[in-house]
Parts: sequence; C-alpha cells; structure tokens
Amino acid sequence: MSESTEPTIASMPPAGVARRERVLSGMRPTGALHLGHYHGALKNWVRLQADYECFYFVADWHALTTHYEERDVIEKNVYDMVVDWLAAGIDPDNATVFIQSRLPEHAELFTLLAMGTPLGWLERVPTYKDQIEKLKDRDLATYGFLGYPLLQAADILIYKAAWVPVGEDQSSHVELTREVARRFNHLYGREPNFEELARNVVRKLGKDAARAFEAARKNFQQEGGEEALRRARAVLEASQSLGAADRERLDAWIRGTGKAVLHEPQALHTEVRKLPGLDGAKMSKSYGNAIAMREEPAEVERKIRRMPTDPARVRRENPGDPEKCPVWQLHKVYSNEETKAWVVHGCTTAAIGCLDCKQPLIEAIVREQAPWRERAAAYLADPKRVHWILEVGTERARTVARETMRDVREAMGLSY
Ligand code: TRP
Ligand code: SF4
Repeated sequence: MSESTEPTIASMPPAGVARRERVLSGMRPTGALHLGHYHGALKNWVRLQADYECFYFVADWHALTTHYEERDVIEKNVYDMVVDWLAAGIDPDNATVFIQSRLPEHAELFTLLAMGTPLGWLERVPTYKDQIEKLKDRDLATYGFLGYPLLQAADILIYKAAWVPVGEDQSSHVELTREVARRFNHLYGREPNFEELARNVVRKLGKDAARAFEAARKNFQQEGGEEALRRARAVLEASQSLGAADRERLDAWIRGTGKAVLHEPQALHTEVRKLPGLDGAKMSKSYGNAIAMREEPAEVERKIRRMPTDPARVRRENPGDPEKCPVWQLHKVYSNEETKAWVVHGCTTAAIGCLDCKQPLIEAIVREQAPWRERAAAYLADPKRVHWILEVGTERARTVARETMRDVREAMGLSY
C-alpha cells in the first residue's frame, strides 16, 4: 500500500463533513442490463447504500467516447438501465441517481483539469491501447477517446468521492484520478494568503472557542496526538458561525496543510466473480451469450436448456466432466453445496442428464429475478416516476458539483 492510502489521523473526515463517506460510480448506458452487470457491479452498489452516501450516475458522455455515431440508441438505453438499477434495489431515497450530461459542471472541470494534464499520462493508461485494439471496427483516434479517463477523473473529483467501486479494469483510471487531484492541489491548493485567512476565521469562533481551538491545534502540531485533533475539531463542530469553506480551511489549518481542494479517491474493489455467459465466455451483450436481468422466465428456461454442455456427453449414458461445461460455471454462482455435490456426482457417473442438471439453475435464476421483475413493473407502469427520480438526483448532485466548482475556480484564480 502506498503511503498516501494508509489511513492516518490527518485523513480522518474533517469536522463538519457528513460522517458517511461518499461513494461514486457510473455506468455507460448500454441498454437493459444482464446478470453479469448485476453480479459484477450492481449487487455491490446496492449493498453500499447501507454504509455510504452513494452517488450513481449514467455515464452517457462516456458512451459517446466510443459510440459517437449512434445518436438514437442512447436515450432509450439510459431509461432501460436506470429501471434495472431501481429494479435491483437502488433506493432513490437513499442513493443519488443522475445523468452525467445534465451536469455541465463535469465538462467544466474536465476542461480545467485538461489544461495541466500531461499528454503522456493519458497515453499511458493501459485501457487506451487495449480498447483501440479491441474495437478495431471503430475509429477511436479521437480527442474524446484519449481524454475519457480524464473525464472520469472529473466525474469523481467533482463529488469529492472517497470511494469508487469499479472493476479491476478501471483501477488505472482511479489511479490517474489520484494523480490529477494531487497535481491540482499542489499547483493551486494553497491559497496565497492561507495563514491570514485561517487566522481571520479563528477570530470568528469567538474568544473562548478560539482560545480552545488554538491550544488544541498547537498541541496537535507539536505532539500529533489524536486527542488534540479531536478537541480542535469538536470546537469547529460546536461553532454555529462557520460555513463549509471556513470549516474546511480551519481543518486544514489544524493539520498544518493547505486547503485540499480536490480529494484523492480510492478504488473499491469487492470480490466479484466474473459471471460466465451461456457459452462459458464472459457474459456480454455483444457476444450474444447473456441473460437479461428482466428476461422472461420462459426465455430464461429456453436459453439455459439450449446451453452447450461437456461435448463428451453425446448420449445420456456418457459420463461428463463439469469442469468442461459452462453450465457448471453457473452452478458455482447460483447453487448451494448440496446441489453442487449432486451435479458433480450425477454428471461424472451419468446418473443425471444435462436437462436434469439445468433445472435447478433455471429455478435459481428465475427466483433471483422475481423481485426485480416486480419492482421494474411498477416503474415501467409509471415512467414519470423514473424521470422524477432522475430529476431529484440531478439537482442533488448539482448542489455538490457547483460547490466544488466554486472552490476550483477560486483556487485557479478564476473567480472574477
Ligand atoms: N468508465 C466507466 C466504465 O466504462 C464508467 C464511469 C464513468 C465511471 N465515470 C465514472 C465509473 C466514474 C466510476 C466513476 O465502466
Ligand atoms: Fe454439464 Fe450438468 Fe451436463 Fe455435466 S450434467 S455436462 S455439468 S450440464
């Protein structure tokens, strides 16, 4: 672990900042989601809502970085995807759900960050060359495609997110985000008259509180004790007269740093199993091997029944090897120990047929989908509600984004 990711006293949340840390993640609107999206990301998003302040957004500009020629599909994809989020259990009263393109602040931060970001940082992002290789049928020699990890950095930094749940393939983007934040704070973080400003803010605390604050601050700077830090922050918390910016200034003053305008986020990788598709390769819409989250039960059954199995089982009486069978890969995700033992025994001794083997899987998937189908039906019957959820989420996000942009502009000397 690098030094900067180690939790230290000084990285404790500043006084006055909500105790629940913020999580931010985005997804490109690729249309209705499949089981791979659920197990790979969405399930985790749902879980995080209990412990964090979650911001989840539709990364529609990101979709344009590769699919800029497809103007007609994106809108439908946005709503289909959001319905799937809600169906999976994203709770709009708890999480903030919004659409990137409704917040031009992201573009503003992207532009400002672009000014000082070395070209080499973007050229060296591993996904850059990989994707150009992979998506050979598209012309990705574009400015937008090269810049997209920086747009992602802006998405993250504008909400001062502490945690970014992403797949391993996106780690390098979060790392870039950290570098961009560090560089920004280095270049612009320290207000030229920081010390004077801080002292003025201390005066606003009132005489007794100011004295208590200064004593605790000096103590923390000399001895570094956690107790002193806590005391200084308690004074800030108790004070009625400070706005958020002043609070943050004094928090930085306690720690002897400048004002960290942008916050370095950390990637949040949770253990997720790559869900195999119907043919055993990674589940993906473009491979045609996916089961949609809202797939009809009859269609789930049809798809699973047609899945290829161990080619050695030509006839019912030929024993098979589960390791050579994509159906087994799905059992590993969906079945309990007992069922799995039944599969292994039944397959290797030809005691069960492949259709027998598939039956519990069909049932498990249909059972998993049942609550999604129910919630989705309610949202689909009331599309206005989905629009409203996005409306509210967008305005909530805007409040935060605007505040960050005000700080950024001020830090860069653009607040004339
Ligand atoms: N780049 C991500 C993807 O392709 C989506 C994304 C955009 C994102 N902005 C983000 C993810 C910010 C996390 C945080 O999947
Ligand atoms: Fe695959 Fe099950 Fe058939 Fe074995 S019995 S080959 S695991 S489907």
